[in-house]
Amino acid sequence: MTVSIQTRGNIAIVTIDNPPVNAASHAVRLGLQNALHQTSQDDAVQAVVLHCAGRTFIAGADITEFGTPSQDPSLPDLLTQIETASKPWVAAIHGTALGGGLETALVCHYRITDRATKLGLPEVNLGLIPGAGGTVRLPRLIAPEHALEMIAGGKPVAATRALELGLIDQIAEGDLLEDAIALAQASGARPIPLPLIERPVVALSSQDKWDGMIRKVKAKARGQNSPIAAIKALENALELGAPAALVAERALFLELRDSDQSKALRHIFFAERATAQVGRIKGVAAAPLSHIGVVGGGTMGAGIAAACLLAGYRVTLIERNEEAADTGRDRVHVTLDQSRKRGVITLAAHLQAVESFQVSTSYAALSDADLVIEAVFEDMQVKIDVLTALEAEMRPETILATNTSYLDINEMAAATQRPSRVIGLHFFSPAHIMKLLEIVVTDSVDDQTTATAFAFAKRLKKIAVRAKVGEGFIANRIMSAYRREAEYMLEDGAMPWDIDAAMRDFGFPMGIFEMQDLAGLDISWAMRKRLSATRDPDQRYVDIGDKLCESGHFGRKTGRGYYDYTEDGRAHHSAETSALIKDESQRKGITRAHISDKIIMARILDRIRSEAAALLDQGIARCADDIDVVMVNAFGFPRWTGGPMFYQSRPG
Ligand code: 3HC
Ligand code: NAI
Repeated sequence: MTVSIQTRGNIAIVTIDNPPVNAASHAVRLGLQNALHQTSQDDAVQAVVLHCAGRTFIAGADITEFGTPSQDPSLPDLLTQIETASKPWVAAIHGTALGGGLETALVCHYRITDRATKLGLPEVNLGLIPGAGGTVRLPRLIAPEHALEMIAGGKPVAATRALELGLIDQIAEGDLLEDAIALAQASGARPIPLPLIERPVVALSSQDKWDGMIRKVKAKARGQNSPIAAIKALENALELGAPAALVAERALFLELRDSDQSKALRHIFFAERATAQVGRIKGVAAAPLSHIGVVGGGTMGAGIAAACLLAGYRVTLIERNEEAADTGRDRVHVTLDQSRKRGVITLAAHLQAVESFQVSTSYAALSDADLVIEAVFEDMQVKIDVLTALEAEMRPETILATNTSYLDINEMAAATQRPSRVIGLHFFSPAHIMKLLEIVVTDSVDDQTTATAFAFAKRLKKIAVRAKVGEGFIANRIMSAYRREAEYMLEDGAMPWDIDAAMRDFGFPMGIFEMQDLAGLDISWAMRKRLSATRDPDQRYVDIGDKLCESGHFGRKTGRGYYDYTEDGRAHHSAETSALIKDESQRKGITRAHISDKIIMARILDRIRSEAAALLDQGIARCADDIDVVMVNAFGFPRWTGGPMFYQSRPG
């Protein structure tokens, strides 16, 4: 039964059981309506406890129903009926109460959670706003500033924060359901609390603060419509009466639901989840992992070690000498400290992570490791030397992974005694924060190694995308292609800041030249030098990046790159870069001509698409959706376009 009723004395327990996440599907809504009817009619019932089976409370409306004709009862109508029930409803919330799930909890007369519960209105991430009264009821329960944060920001809050805000009444001390039943019993002696819809909105603490928050949300939206609609809905909630605000909220919700942006965001939501399924190989179980080795404690190695520690693994970091080991250790500790400060981990988890971490200069410390990830210099010979030396110290079944950005992993695998246990795990910087992980399968890898890599990604809470071996895999290969196109445009007539501005306007968080200045120009310079011997002499080559590097302009870290940087970290147009670019156009006999923002973006998008098509042809990328997932998560291709492939396929 999707929704069932049991009784305990005079308390009715209504249970939703709609795996995997108890989404408020049509069957759930019908079941709840029946439960409301039955419990209202039954004189023996004094109060109702609403709870969910499985891993979570209702995680929202059923997104798969959004493209289909709506079926009664609608969630808003059902929730109004529950709110005005003749008996009090207690929401017993575990897991995540999200979107329509939190809206359901808001119409219950009491809310109790367990300690690990999270509550949020993430609709904005799907290009929506709450559409079942959330924008109207929430500012009648908690301060509108906090409501704005939750609705326009879309981030869930933890139970303890929810209690502070007044969003919930209680955190269960013992068993959630038992405590909820006790709360329901106690509620029988009190009058039913006034429905939120009949209460006034909570007063703003300061109009100035509110105006400042609105400005911030608008600035951050960068072309996405739903945060702006969230502001509008909250303004309605503050200014109109509740009934009018509810009608306006529903109209806005329906308009957004049918918009291109929401369709695109829903596409990415499902595409991100589909990538994880690829690792489920029939009949093959992932190998258990507990001890992870990381070789190289630089930018990436330290980040990967921290990511593994944050996921609860035991980690050993190997460096070349004591000095580098100390630096690597410090980097990892700083990241763990920051994670603790940002509330990513509890104090106990922080202590546990520190205890599970060791640093060594000897590969012998990895003798019982289950997976070793190398993140040493980007040089084939260095990497092969490291992998073969490691092998001598490790168990034969230990998986060897490389974090190489561009190099041929088939060649690395062939140089080892265990080619079937070698795989690419390409993290992005900063590795403990960036969600994307490219899992690069070699020609020789076995299924268990692939399945283990996917299971590892899941434990790290990463979005894993499968790629085959090929210079730059998916992400860096596409990025290199549109970077090249952007460089052509420098010679043809644009300046770096023109191209960056066009990309920002399109919705990228930063342009390609700002991004390179941030990452360090020397990294791609090293790659170009490596490839110079094999480069096609007929291919157009832009020397501007090389010339900047030759004069020591490596980007932000040297105070100069495509831009000049002042001490306060601000970027300024560089007269030197400008002169260099014009000289280069002249040297090549190119007549510079103005390139409009529209043409800049058209050239970048075309280049992305043609490279993506080649990746699909060559089987390096599995499908177009994976390319969307990669571009959105690696380089901030605006999520609300659905990624370059979805954007390209849209009508009109
Ligand atoms: N509707 C339909 N399916 C959903 C769903 C939803 N709201 N939420 C999750 N699913 C599906 C996923 O597609 C996935 O399916 P799969 O196994 O076939 O790939 C499965 O449930 C499990 O999801 P995850 O892999 O994401 O599981 P996690 O445990 O990692 O995360 C979660 C669980 C935090 C609930 C996460 O799934 C999530 O964030 N879901 C979306 C929540 C959301 O956005 N809710 C708002 C919906 S819009 C709304 O409510 C409108 C209302 O205001 C009217
Ligand atoms: P880095 O230069 O910051 O760190 C490399 C570290 O490896 C140094 O600390 C060095 O001491 C150590 N090392 C070198 N040889 C070693 C050996 N034999 N044994 C133990 N340690 C050794 O380099 P970074 O940026 O961390 O890159 C590492 C790898 O990750 C490269 O392959 C790079 O292409 C890749 N990568 C880099 C990304 C980035 O944004 N920096 C992103 C994704 C991958």
